[in-house]
Amino acid sequence: MPERHPAHDHEHAHSGPLTLAERHAHEAETYDRMSTDLLATWDDADYLVDPARIPFANREHVDFLTDAVTRLGPLNGRRVLEVGAGSGSLAVWLALQGAEVVGIDVSAGILDVARRRASVNGVADRTTFVHVPIEEFDPRAAGLDHHRYDAIIGNNVVHHFDRDLAMANLGRLLAPGAIAVFCEPVLFLPEWTRTVRNSRPVTRFFPPHTHTPDERSLDERDFAVMRRWFATVDWTPYQVFGRLQNFVELSDPAWNRLESFDRSLLRRVPASRRICRMAVITLGQPITVAQPASFSEPAALAEPAALAQPTEGTSE
Ligand SMILES: C[S@@+](CC[C@H](N)C(=O)[O-])C[C@H]1O[C@@H](n2cnc3c(N)ncnc32)[C@H](O)[C@@H]1O
Repeated sequence: MPERHPAHDHEHAHSGPLTLAERHAHEAETYDRMSTDLLATWDDADYLVDPARIPFANREHVDFLTDAVTRLGPLNGRRVLEVGAGSGSLAVWLALQGAEVVGIDVSAGILDVARRRASVNGVADRTTFVHVPIEEFDPRAAGLDHHRYDAIIGNNVVHHFDRDLAMANLGRLLAPGAIAVFCEPVLFLPEWTRTVRNSRPVTRFFPPHTHTPDERSLDERDFAVMRRWFATVDWTPYQVFGRLQNFVELSDPAWNRLESFDRSLLRRVPASRRICRMAVITLGQPITVAQPASFSEPAALAEPAALAQPTEGTSE
């Protein structure tokens, strides 16, 4: 059975901000429920990952994930952290390329699916899955041998995080010179467009496909947080008209045409970057802050020592 992630568009009306604990609980509940279904209905063939291709049934992910993975460089023998590893497709694929992978997730259930996938694909010895949110992940507390990673990756996850806590921790988890790469939904349009998108008349015809009530695509505010914690923040835009896929099921040829049109548009018309749907974001050179007395207590995180001025920070 092909695996599809229902979270395609990331705008949502919500009644008020959730606490971090509530957000984690909500995410965990959603993916735990999904995992119960997968574990009950999948057989071994459904867990198989082809080492020769990026492991996503959602063809919309393939283009930007290929870019993201390429940015990590050679994988063989490297220690990679996948944040929000979900059912483990990417973690297992990375392990099949020779990486030693730690995958973390806030849902215990979905990590059981990931472990099963690792075992079916023969990489259980090269994958470790830890049930913990990124905001609190401390490799020492998790009993892991290594506390820094040669590369960090995440697909469709940052928009779920507490941005400040997550960015601070990611900076600590990167080995010197290493980078973190994330594929994320973005929306750089003015706030009123979000309001229109979430209004009753629009959601009646185009329902949002989100899980968590205050889940939202990344915008300038989130990039400002990233720049507070990383001296390098680069991003590459993907998909403009590809957004159509959220609302109409496109045939493969139609999708391919749209994707290559978008790619050319984004390359030739710089202003179109502002209306892209997805971004591949690279974070590097963490801005050093004083370590908290105990690395296990994220609540004690120090404020960033200096606020980096927003940089152009773009690459294509
Ligand atoms: C949209 S899914 C993406 C899963 C996977 N990256 C993929 O592409 O198949 C988001 C995942 O992030 C996890 N998640 C949400 N908030 C998290 C957090 N604060 N820390 C770690 N994982 C989190 C969810 O449980 C879920 O598995």
